[in-house]
Amino acid sequence: MRLILAPMEGLADAPMRDVLTRIGGIDLCVAEFVRVTDHLVPRQKFLRTVPELDNGGRTPNGTPVRVQLLGHDTACLAENAVVAAELGAPGIDLNFGCPSPSVNRHGAGAILLNQPERLFAIVAAVRRALPAEIPLSAKMRLGVDDTGLALDCARAVESGGAAELVVHARTRADRFRPPARWEWLAQIRETLAIPVIANGDVWLPQDWTHIRTVSGCADVMLGRGLITRPDLARRIRAGENTPAMAWSELLPWIVDHYSQLRNAMNPRHAPGRLKQWLGMLRAAYPEAGVLHRELRVLHDPAQVAHRLESAGDECRQE
Ligand SMILES: Cc1cc2nc3c(=O)[nH]c(=O)nc-3n(C[C@H](O)[C@H](O)[C@H](O)COP(=O)(O)O)c2cc1C
Repeated sequence: MRLILAPMEGLADAPMRDVLTRIGGIDLCVAEFVRVTDHLVPRQKFLRTVPELDNGGRTPNGTPVRVQLLGHDTACLAENAVVAAELGAPGIDLNFGCPSPSVNRHGAGAILLNQPERLFAIVAAVRRALPAEIPLSAKMRLGVDDTGLALDCARAVESGGAAELVVHARTRADRFRPPARWEWLAQIRETLAIPVIANGDVWLPQDWTHIRTVSGCADVMLGRGLITRPDLARRIRAGENTPAMAWSELLPWIVDHYSQLRNAMNPRHAPGRLKQWLGMLRAAYPEAGVLHRELRVLHDPAQVAHRLESAGDECRQE
């Protein structure tokens, strides 16, 4: 069984992947999408999104990071997949799930789920272009407005030559509305010979047990659940009843993440990212809510760092 960190644009970037993989339990990451239109993506753009490419396509603790491509132009996706592989990507993933209207208007992302034959053409072209040793996966939702073509889409991805398929168990119309339709994962898994990776609404170790029982899938992709409970993968491995990481253990990771953010992006944007994470952590840690409220009024990156570090000191003294 594998636990895979989901691609999450604007949320699970390289600093977050580093912190989460070091906390532990994650076998593989898929990076947030790289948009492919009608030309070769500059090398710098690949490296900005997936800086791990400079480290053999692995996070600092050695976890492989697949590059995800989002586009509709078959030839261009194939050419860019080759570039990503040459840059060191240990695998390529194709995005057939993005619900963004601006992306869908250009024929990319979830809208492709209306045309299984296009999915087949894209997967086949990318597979043909890539060196045989580079695994190709795809990530899809269950459809655009309904699930009518879900099995056709899954078959198209398999016949195109993908080695595995991640299914986010919702249609585009479902957006992120709970509950995810886990029962569909079982139907898709029974239809395909390649591994199907279950995704959607795994927030707690018990959800992991449940999604595997309902879907029969061995592998699970974790998204927002891992951001909200950064030790989720570790706890799943250690057993359902393992206690959650204490706030005092989590806080140094938050400090580490914030300091990486200040180096990785325009420092002015780092406080926003930190507040976004704290906002999500509130669901599991009331202390994150307190810190979130205190930091809300601060915008200067250095002041935020100072307050964060004093929170760490206070925590150590308790
Ligand atoms: C903020 C955000 C950004 C996302 N970005 C991507 C992306 O770049 N590529 C992709 O395939 N899915 C993306 N997703 C979808 C997730 O990978 C995942 O399928 C979805 O969140 C459901 O899993 P979860 O319930 O475990 O979060 C994104 C989701 C969120 C919340």
